[in-house]
Amino acid sequence: MKIVEPTSTQIVLPSGELMGASGRYSKRVSELAGCYADHGAFQALVALRGDEIAYVVDQFAPKTTEGDLIFGTSTLEPGDVAGEFFMTRGHLHKKADRSEIYQCIAGRGVMLMETLEGRVAAIELVPGHIVYVPPYWIHRSVNVGPEKLVTLFCYPADAGQDYEIIAAAGGMASLIVSDGRGGWRQAPNLRYVGRADRTKPGSVE
Ligand code: NI
Repeated sequence: MKIVEPTSTQIVLPSGELMGASGRYSKRVSELAGCYADHGAFQALVALRGDEIAYVVDQFAPKTTEGDLIFGTSTLEPGDVAGEFFMTRGHLHKKADRSEIYQCIAGRGVMLMETLEGRVAAIELVPGHIVYVPPYWIHRSVNVGPEKLVTLFCYPADAGQDYEIIAAAGGMASLIVSDGRGGWRQAPNLRYVGRADRTKPGSVE
């Protein structure tokens, strides 16, 4: 058994950078094709800002074996596509019985969650608040404020991520959109076909 040394780190604000992270990946605006309901508005945004970073994930992952933890920060830029707020691509854990927590460090967001049967939960994230994502819930974070949304996440190291499960259902059942008064609301996703019946028209784009 290899003994890993204890360590500590810190989150740099306002950037959301995790000091000493062992890995980083970022998504550009143009890489989020298919996430947003208004395809035309998305294309227009890509033409203007396609190369800009939409979000960055820094993580500290000593190992990816059972019993260990992976933690890190997700930093999501503010913005919207025809009123639909900027979001992460979202995923279900490959080992779907693995849970996760997210704590909001800065900004204002929503953790949008959904079961495989299509039951939705949307929980607001403000600094200091912690959202528990139980096993078997698909999850994505959404920035509903004017600043960067920085969250600290932590999940079992062997969880893995399935990023295709959302796209295969035509997105998530709910969209998180502007309420026109500086807040947010859920709106039905008209492209959503669910997961129970993959033979429905429109399930393959
Ligand atoms: Ni996760």
